[in-house]
Amino acid sequence: MSEPDWYEDATIYSLDVKTFNDGDGDGWGDFRGAIERLDYLDELGVDALWIRPFYPSPLRDNGYDVADYYGVDDRLGSLADFREFADRAHERGIRVITDLVFNHTSNEHEWFRRAREDPESEYHDYYLWTSHLADAHQRGNIFPEYEDGVWSYDEVADKHYFHQFYGHQPDLNVANPAVREELYDVLRFWLDRGADGFRIDAAHPMLMPKGHDATTLDETDLGDPIELFKEMRRVVEAEQSDAVLLAEADDEPEHLDYYFGDGEAFHLQFNFVMNAHLTYAVGVKDTWPLQRAEEVLPDVSGVGTWVNFLRNHDEWNLLKLPEEAFEHARGYFGDDDGDSWIFERGHRLRLADLYDGDPGRIAVAHSLLFSLPGSVALQSGDEIGMGADLSLPEREAVRTPMQWDDSPNGGFSTAAPEECYNPAVDEGPSAYDRVNVAAQRGDPDSLLSRVEALVAARDACPEIARGDYRALETDHKETRVHRFEHDGTVLLCAHNLADGYREEVVGFDVDPDTVEHVVGDGEHHVAEGGVTVELDACDYAWLRGEKR
Ligand code: GLC
Repeated sequence: MSEPDWYEDATIYSLDVKTFNDGDGDGWGDFRGAIERLDYLDELGVDALWIRPFYPSPLRDNGYDVADYYGVDDRLGSLADFREFADRAHERGIRVITDLVFNHTSNEHEWFRRAREDPESEYHDYYLWTSHLADAHQRGNIFPEYEDGVWSYDEVADKHYFHQFYGHQPDLNVANPAVREELYDVLRFWLDRGADGFRIDAAHPMLMPKGHDATTLDETDLGDPIELFKEMRRVVEAEQSDAVLLAEADDEPEHLDYYFGDGEAFHLQFNFVMNAHLTYAVGVKDTWPLQRAEEVLPDVSGVGTWVNFLRNHDEWNLLKLPEEAFEHARGYFGDDDGDSWIFERGHRLRLADLYDGDPGRIAVAHSLLFSLPGSVALQSGDEIGMGADLSLPEREAVRTPMQWDDSPNGGFSTAAPEECYNPAVDEGPSAYDRVNVAAQRGDPDSLLSRVEALVAARDACPEIARGDYRALETDHKETRVHRFEHDGTVLLCAHNLADGYREEVVGFDVDPDTVEHVVGDGEHHVAEGGVTVELDACDYAWLRGEKR
């Protein structure tokens, strides 16, 4: 097998510039501040950064409401700052993936302003309109708590426009060839300025049947929708051959391989199915959800790569769980008064909140994450066990500033706390004076050190991206052992999700003298043809040996 491309085995760190580090003391994180923290990311060992939207925006959806695709919000820096950030990251061998929102724009985007004001303008057909609401295509809105439906009336145009998210986020008519050309130009622009790839926001809604007037039926016919993504890949690769496209496509499992377009569309895709099951499994101390996820996921080997993750900047979406588990997860993980439940589908909580702040449980979740085939995305702050602030509105609860040390604002900014984009968490078990980078740095038992060790272990184990993979039978429902074989070596990754000790004896067909303990606190004893793994609560152990 040939060397995998870099993205087939990457650790991708997701950060929002606004809340990562403030370089100029105005309370908003910025690119200059982020540059100062690149050494931290380098030490953590990540291969790529996924930078959440930083474009000019009214920020009514955290920047996923873009008002100008070609700029940087001036509170976050300038185009020159972005360039410098990308250059400094590249010097450290770290790639930069930016987030592009192509399903919709902000209603403050110039295109929408012209579209509303002049129905004759070319920009009118950049969006989707109807004057016949009764006949228009209807479907559920993705933010059901905030929006009644997918059509809103625009007084200026005297028509309804289509939006699957907030009303201030009109959907682009991506079937319009002129819109597609605009999107390709945006891709080229950011590659020219140092980006190495893109997370394409809301890829699934981009392809949904959109509403239309009977009169514009032909213009809104997407044809075969995957062609759009294939063309995006051609555009990107023509510019930079190793640049990547990463899909956020929260679609049904049986439809997920579609987004890879037989190896011609997205390179990468977030694994929402595994996310719901994996994070749930660790919380309920039972491994059945892992098996279930693997049963329902399509086999995508040879066409694309999953990006596995534990949490992201949105709600922890549970819709991919079977119904009984979904209902269970709603109450089992939520806060007591139900305030964390959102959008009728998930919890606005951080990883640490789901596991009551238990560093052992957070660590074993990371070990499972890193030992699954595919690439990995880490949510900024989860590597130190940050918690949510439920007093903040909506998903802002999980978007508080990075906690660097125990100085005011957790070292994020020198501004007064009320000046900060979001306040740092300063109360409760995950307050910045208890949970921060400085306190964990250098302590080999800290969560940060354990996550760092897992990133390094993953780098040292090419078996995970390249090897043959299978889960082994175990005696306990709380233990999970999986095995990779590649190029004469066997790697076993053993995990115990229980609150107490568990022991497993599994086959290990390697030369006993070659067995190496890669990472984890679990103990092992190799015997002829097998190995006994002794795991305390939340222990894990990765073992590697040469096949005999
Ligand atoms: C994606 C983003 C989310 C945003 C939505 C609308 O799901 O992750 O934060 O609100 O798209 O752009």
